[in-house]
Amino acid sequence: NKGLHMLSNLSLTEVFELLEEAQNFADGATWSPKRQMFVANLFYEASTRTKFSFEVAEKKLGLEVLNFSAETSSVQKGETLYDTAKTLEAIGADALVIRHPEDAFYEQLEALNIPIINAGDGCGHHPTQSLLDLLTIRQEFKSFQNVEIVICGDLRHSRVARSNAEILTKLGANVSVSGPKEWMCGFAKTYPYVTMDEAVKKADVMMMLRIQHERHDDGMALTKEQYHQQYGLTIERERKMKDRSIILHPAPVNRDVEIASELVECERSRIFKQMQNGVAARMAVLKKVFEG
Ligand code: CP
Repeated sequence: NKGLHMLSNLSLTEVFELLEEAQNFADGATWSPKRQMFVANLFYEASTRTKFSFEVAEKKLGLEVLNFSAETSSVQKGETLYDTAKTLEAIGADALVIRHPEDAFYEQLEALNIPIINAGDGCGHHPTQSLLDLLTIRQEFKSFQNVEIVICGDLRHSRVARSNAEILTKLGANVSVSGPKEWMCGFAKTYPYVTMDEAVKKADVMMMLRIQHERHDDGMALTKEQYHQQYGLTIERERKMKDRSIILHPAPVNRDVEIASELVECERSRIFKQMQNGVAARMAVLKKVFEG
């Protein structure tokens, strides 16, 4: 049992099983392991939603939570990720939840005997965010077949975009992309490109992404106001969206940049529903990991 590194590593049956389990937890189901189990949460990058929803999920499942802070640990003395993870395994952690800035950091932890749950690797993948997004879309549309998803914005730096584009396509949704062409990298070769004005007319799901300023070496060519007008979900664009279409955003949100501030809690927005679903999705992943 190697945990969960990417959602696209799972079969579609396993993805649907996780979604069923997550929905059960969202509806109030309970589960606990048969013996005392320890989970360590190692966040080498900032997080609010993922870190705390994992912690709530772990506590709801009766797991013992070990919170690790890179700033106050022996990482400050130069200890590597491998040595840190191996140490926690030796101390008695039964699973590790890790967010790390390096793409595919989990590959260097292959020798460990405990499962690793990826809570976000660099610009790679964010499988539990993807699972909670799938849960939110499924609650709305019941199926993924032919649901029109437009992923908008900073795709180049987005692990959420990568995870979601792959799995949603496998599940039968139609994925398109939108945003500055220089931020599309490989995406525009695989998925149709639409302008934001086309996107709002086409989408059942407008999946907005945060501009990841911390991963931009070259800064932004446009001002925030210019970006909002050209590539943002403005109030005018939201009015042109289809009936029953919804807005997702993994958050945190750059208000009035990728999305107008007034739209964050508008009727179409499922942004806080996504966060609520994050707890249930992570409970499902932890249960799967501990059941082996
Ligand atoms: N969506 C998400 O991963 O948020 P955090 O960075 O706050 O965990």
